[in-house]
Amino acid sequence: MAEVLPFERSEEQAEDRPVLVIDLGGQYSQLIARRVRECRVYSELVSHRTPAQALAVRNPRAIVLSGGPASVYADDAPEVDPGIWDLDVPTLGICYGMQLMARDLGGSVERTGASEFGRTELHAGGGALFEQTPDDQVVWMSHRDSVTAPPEGARVTGSSASTPIAAFEAPERGLYGVQFHPEVVHTPHGNEVLKNFLYGVAGAPPTWTAAAVIEEQVERIRAQVGTDRVLCALSGGVDSAVAALLVHKAVGDRLTCVFVDHGLLRKDEAAQVVETFRGHFQVPLVHVDAEERFLARLDGIEEPEEKRRRVGEEFIRVFEEEAARLGKIRYLVQGTLYSDVIESGGTDGVAATIKSHHNVAGLPEDVDFELIEPLRMLFKDEVRRVGEELGLPERMVWRQPFPGPGLAIRIIGAVTRERLEILREADSILQEEVRRAGLYRDLWQSFAVLPAIRSVGVQGDERTYAYPIVIRAVTSEDAMTADWARLPYDLLETISGRIINEIPGVNRVALDISSKPPSTIEWE
Ligand code: XMP
Repeated sequence: MAEVLPFERSEEQAEDRPVLVIDLGGQYSQLIARRVRECRVYSELVSHRTPAQALAVRNPRAIVLSGGPASVYADDAPEVDPGIWDLDVPTLGICYGMQLMARDLGGSVERTGASEFGRTELHAGGGALFEQTPDDQVVWMSHRDSVTAPPEGARVTGSSASTPIAAFEAPERGLYGVQFHPEVVHTPHGNEVLKNFLYGVAGAPPTWTAAAVIEEQVERIRAQVGTDRVLCALSGGVDSAVAALLVHKAVGDRLTCVFVDHGLLRKDEAAQVVETFRGHFQVPLVHVDAEERFLARLDGIEEPEEKRRRVGEEFIRVFEEEAARLGKIRYLVQGTLYSDVIESGGTDGVAATIKSHHNVAGLPEDVDFELIEPLRMLFKDEVRRVGEELGLPERMVWRQPFPGPGLAIRIIGAVTRERLEILREADSILQEEVRRAGLYRDLWQSFAVLPAIRSVGVQGDERTYAYPIVIRAVTSEDAMTADWARLPYDLLETISGRIINEIPGVNRVALDISSKPPSTIEWE
């Protein structure tokens, strides 16, 4: 990942001094950064290769060293610049980070043969990190090596049956270490441990709120845009919606949104975009009803990647035509998220969690615009909170991820108006029932798929030969892996009954019970 920190903040903004989370290759470093922000303290994720001097320039409130899969004595073990230890900034080492601290600062780390994985009983013996938490508590461990001597001058503050040094503190040196993972939900008091470090040890004020983000972004956008005009492509998704509203709040009618409606959205979604933006927020909006064009481009196309390519290409073409009609506009809004920023820095340490190649129906890369990226410092859940604060309707804020090529890749085989209509109705019933059951937010995605086969049924006295609908519902953290959702039988029954009874052309409903991998979430 990038050694260069991803954004510059003005001096005023820098009052919200960051907590720098140093990524040491663990799968949890992004999670740590998010947890810190959930404590309302601003955090940034940085590569372990960042020189101490570059960290110091950020004027960090605190530093957190993440876990990592390596052994501190392995040849290619990730290191930190030893200058970090002299920065005089409160530093918390988690798992591998703790071991690195011990190794570098006069302690020792060994493979004791007593590895720990999973739930572990920890005995906490005082210490600032364990304030207001029970002496005996469950924590989540995942390590082979153990600290066998703490850094010079540090006091051991936690132990487990097989790890006598499971936490240490050296307050005068600002050093804190925990072998367990306070950032995971399986450590019930983990959040309190983090808060103790952030508020108690580092004195960080809990000021990172959605309202503060909005204020900061609005100022920043105003400063960047001056008196120029801004263009934004709305997709119906939460990212572009929140980005557009932030820009609108900053520059008002100098923003024009273009909503390329490819006719492949779910039922009522297009109308909702128009109603919300033009109606409610009074944002200047060009609604391009391009269904005909997209259907023509998809005519007879069955191959999934070809569908994607055509939708993507057509999207850009329509968008460019509309942009040209609007005259010279200097700026373009992009809904880049912090996770994109992290990943585009490379995969050094941080696992790529979002597939960039999926970002079709996005905008061309070589556009002649300067970019405004108001979500560049936000994680997805923060985008949602900002959306709520800005008054975006619940449905848009919490919309499940939806692919750019839309229903085209949920219709197996050729996309026709008739088949689109069938899928759209089935999907709408499914959504309605999932929402009614209160499960919509628990599911990463839930949707209907229309296969390119037909099967025999009987309705009344008549034999039918019609399409099946497949129900796909998954739980997931990041779409890289997913589990099929165990929807209640009653709910499945209702969905199936309604789809078959209400949609002519469908006589069967099947449930997809495959996980990813080896299946994917979408069918195409
Ligand atoms: P798969 O099907 O690969 O999907 O498990 C992972 C996530 O990516 C979404 N997806 C797409 N998003 N354009 C997009 O914008 C696409 O072409 C595309 N294909 C898949 C999918 O919905 C899931 O969230």
